[in-house]
Amino acid sequence: MWRPPQRIRYEATAGRVASAAEAAASRLFSPVAIGPTTLEQRTWVPAMVPWRATEDGYVTEDVIDWYERFARGQPGAIVLEATGIRDVPSGPLLRIGHDRFLPGLRRLVETVRKASEGRTRLFVQLIDFLAVRRRPEAKKFLERFLVVADRHRAALGDPSLTEADVRARLVAMRDDELKSVLAPDEWEALQFGYRERVNDMHLPHIRNLPQVLPGLFAEAALRAEAAGFDGIELHYAHAYTMSSFLSRTNKRTDGYGGSLENRVRLPLEVFAEIRRRVSEKFAVGVRFLADECIADGSDVGDASHFAVAFAGAGIDFISLSRGGKFDDAKQPSVGDAVYPYTGRSGYECMPQFISDERGPFGRNAEPTATIRKAVRDAGSRVPIVCTGGIHNFEMAEDYLAREVCDIVGAARQSLADPDWFHKIRLGLGSEVRVCEYTNYCEGLDQKHKPVTCQLWDKLASADGERRTPDGKRRMTAPAWQPPE
Ligand SMILES: Cc1cc2nc3c(=O)[nH]c(=O)nc-3n(C[C@H](O)[C@H](O)[C@H](O)COP(=O)(O)O)c2cc1C
Ligand code: SF4
Repeated sequence: MWRPPQRIRYEATAGRVASAAEAAASRLFSPVAIGPTTLEQRTWVPAMVPWRATEDGYVTEDVIDWYERFARGQPGAIVLEATGIRDVPSGPLLRIGHDRFLPGLRRLVETVRKASEGRTRLFVQLIDFLAVRRRPEAKKFLERFLVVADRHRAALGDPSLTEADVRARLVAMRDDELKSVLAPDEWEALQFGYRERVNDMHLPHIRNLPQVLPGLFAEAALRAEAAGFDGIELHYAHAYTMSSFLSRTNKRTDGYGGSLENRVRLPLEVFAEIRRRVSEKFAVGVRFLADECIADGSDVGDASHFAVAFAGAGIDFISLSRGGKFDDAKQPSVGDAVYPYTGRSGYECMPQFISDERGPFGRNAEPTATIRKAVRDAGSRVPIVCTGGIHNFEMAEDYLAREVCDIVGAARQSLADPDWFHKIRLGLGSEVRVCEYTNYCEGLDQKHKPVTCQLWDKLASADGERRTPDGKRRMTAPAWQPPE
């Protein structure tokens, strides 16, 4: 992962420990309405893919265990990991693109209800993504995948070359020569792996996204309601389809790209179709980027515009992340796929303890506050979730007091210690296992390996806990019992 060149080291701490009475009177542990439902407290576990589904997208015992463990900490809400809306093979990513996924999802909902004693609201994050291929071996790409055209012959200075000749000449070239012969998208496919974009209007399935996505998202939302979730979170963040529609890099000319109004058109149409079809009791929220953090990407001003548009359309919550784009991702090794959290924008999404003068902990606060203010100025009370480096009570309470946000999201801190909210509420903040922001977990995510926290394995091992297939790591955080 990219890291700021300043390389200043930061340490997260438990901060000032509140008494149980102070916690009980705090903003953090006060309720907040989310559309048709209410969170008992303003604590939120954002979506995290733990790579525990089956290869064909079903809920497994490991998925159940994972969410049961979070639910025992009784946060206000848990957002279930990014879950694919299409009925297509997607590797071990949870799926909701067909009714056959419902029994597993229902069990998951019931497990969270039981483990949280009914205190935690459960949303599922709905995702659509475009094709991303692994970086090919150069010879294989030039001999098999490249579509040879007359412009290659022209660039090689001989229009009479056969296809086999062109391929042979390209294979023999140095990189700098090759770069001048290949088109920019061919060069990128060779260096990073082929990747579809919303701008690929020559591909019918990309051109038709505005026609198919509202229906696909709505069908998935209906299934989520049937499975018993309290609502959904539309994944309009990071490197995926809907975020690409919102991006300034979206240059579509069909009314769905270019201007701010056009870029938010499909995201709003998806929301409208879902709202039309799910019941009034079902919450529909959105996660998108406060800032894409890439050159020529959408910034806080764009995000404020989108937030006001979503709020005006009646969205039930807005959760803000940042960065995590393909555009500035590192070149993958041959055989690997490009990963959107390896560049500068990836750092902004999941900042690590090695940082710059701004540090890793509050990078999303001011952008979120700006967006929230724009929404409030537009007359909407929609709750805003802020996430990024939040790890103690003091910080969370400060965000709420300063009106940065209405709900506090903590991903890695909740991974490090799923009981941290519960401990704070009981006045036991000094017992919280504070995240070290090493991004060990994120490295596992990158390799699509079961995500775990390195702090869990530093603790004494209890008998009977589930371990990763190599036996080296705990699959869930160690158990914790509140004192009697
Ligand atoms: C292992 C892992 C998986 C993640 N998966 C998702 C995901 O499925 N959807 C999403 O919107 N964000 C995902 N994220 C990003 C987090 O939700 C969060 O925005 C990010 O980690 C920054 O918050 P934090 O500093 O509290 O960890 C993931 C993060 C981690 C560490
Ligand atoms: S592995 Fe654990 S301590 Fe390290 S960043 Fe992830 S959650 Fe935090």
